[in-house]
Amino acid sequence: MVVKAHMKLVCPVMLNFKLFWISQLLILNLEAEIRALQLDSADLKDNVQESAPVPVEQQATEDHDQEILLPVHNPAKEKAAQENAAKEEAEEEAEANKKRHLNAVFIGHVDAGKSTIGGQILFLSGQVDDRQIQKYEKEAKDKSRESWYMAYIMDTNEEERAKGKTVEVGRAHFETESTRFTLLDAPGHKSYVPNMISGASQADIGVLVISARKGEFETGFEKGGQTREHVQLAKTLGVCKLVVVVNKMDDPTVNWSKERYDAIEQKIVPFLKSSAYNTKKDVIFLPISGLMGVNMDKRMDRNVCPWYSGPSFFEVLDSIEVPPRDNGPFRMPIIDKFKDMGTVVMGKVESGSIKEGDSLIIMPNKEPVKVVAIYCDEDKVKRAGPGENLRVRITGIEDEDILSGFVISSTVKPVPAVTEFVAQLQIIGLPEKAVLTAGYKAILHIHAVVEECEIMELISQIDMETREPIKNKGVRFVKNGAGVVCRIQVTNSICVEKFSDFPQLGRFTLRTEGKTVAVGKVTALSGASSSA
Ligand code: GTP
Ligand code: MG
Repeated sequence: MVVKAHMKLVCPVMLNFKLFWISQLLILNLEAEIRALQLDSADLKDNVQESAPVPVEQQATEDHDQEILLPVHNPAKEKAAQENAAKEEAEEEAEANKKRHLNAVFIGHVDAGKSTIGGQILFLSGQVDDRQIQKYEKEAKDKSRESWYMAYIMDTNEEERAKGKTVEVGRAHFETESTRFTLLDAPGHKSYVPNMISGASQADIGVLVISARKGEFETGFEKGGQTREHVQLAKTLGVCKLVVVVNKMDDPTVNWSKERYDAIEQKIVPFLKSSAYNTKKDVIFLPISGLMGVNMDKRMDRNVCPWYSGPSFFEVLDSIEVPPRDNGPFRMPIIDKFKDMGTVVMGKVESGSIKEGDSLIIMPNKEPVKVVAIYCDEDKVKRAGPGENLRVRITGIEDEDILSGFVISSTVKPVPAVTEFVAQLQIIGLPEKAVLTAGYKAILHIHAVVEECEIMELISQIDMETREPIKNKGVRFVKNGAGVVCRIQVTNSICVEKFSDFPQLGRFTLRTEGKTVAVGKVTALSGASSSA
């Protein structure tokens, strides 16, 4: 690329020079004549001094293109070009050799210890020092929340610290031996489930935190506790692997009891199975203490817990395997945006890759934009691939013209935008005796989109055994546990894909009055507009 740009600059000057050269060749004192011209371009001087004379007839017959393609020797520029090419190659190699990247969402019932574990991870990985911990201890004590000091590392705003509850999804970065992680600390409180959905929709793996403390496990796992809802949402949102950490094992009511740990595992496994997790392949359990940092970065101290000899939390995270990422056309749903020397958007790359200087399009409003800078974790990078959580500075659009749920996508194959689609729904949270009919209104959550929607038509019932629609069998209403094919409408155009083409942008949840009513997948798009 650098070489090409250099050629473009030099060639028009070369052409003038060649015409002059042809006319002057007869005088034979070529070098002297050219020097007499006192060309101030170092390029041209160098070229002339190093080029061998070319016979006149040959030059006369050469066409324009051939003339401008004559080799241009410019040692200084060539060296710079070589250095640049080597630098680009090195950057590409560094990119290729970079540790893999995974997004891990921490989910589970309120107060299970998600933020404490997140804070402990940052402490153990040296991102927070003893002095800062002392500062948090004092602040937590002043707020009568002594034991929350570790959670304060993740819970950064005033409201979160005062109440001891996460509200916004916290973000942090850490590395294990083989993997760079983006940690997404979701809130456990039921009022903030929409934020948890946004966190889980960006995740590759989930860390389900369960409190082993007496009474807390029971409340979290009962109906109405967030453990079940979080697991079902995570599965629907594409979180394919779960690490179940049984936390607070140090608590005096538990005291690293194997019986308590086994009882919890035995209750959770059947539930995970019923939520379509393969508990042999896709789930791993381990006991920890997030507050004490036990069985986290180092293996369990046998004096603390003699019966556990398995891997530590970091080892589990390190060895977790996830399916390969999609390298199709570029898609990055925007989860947030802000102003910082231009417009900056945040999101996870769901497919394809992005480079500085790329021309892309923001859908659904079809705004062409240019990529000015890319930030991955804290670093500025030249390019980034699928799965990365990025901040991207763009030009061509003001931040007020962007809404979360918009998708930056490739201009060649933009993401479809629709106001209506057909979907398969599974009803999971209707109140008892309630039914779902055409005309039902709910909040649709699909990737980073949150939009009001209406069910326009129930098309056919789904056989829950085979998961196939029952043909020629109309349906007027459905109850909890049932499946149905239906047509869903939204007021504003949204970016979605068919689940079969692109699961990340084709799976969704419907919620009303703070409860998850149904989960679903998009099976057909009506009147999609994807042309840029
Ligand atoms: P939400 O964000 O509100 O959903 O809560 P959370 O899951 O992030 O819980 P958080 O980390 O705020 O911790 C809640 C309480 O549990 C705090 O008082 C912590 O000190 C305590 N806690 C967390 N982990 C442990 C642990 O390993 N052992 C003990 N004994 N207490 C813990
Ligand atoms: Mg929290």
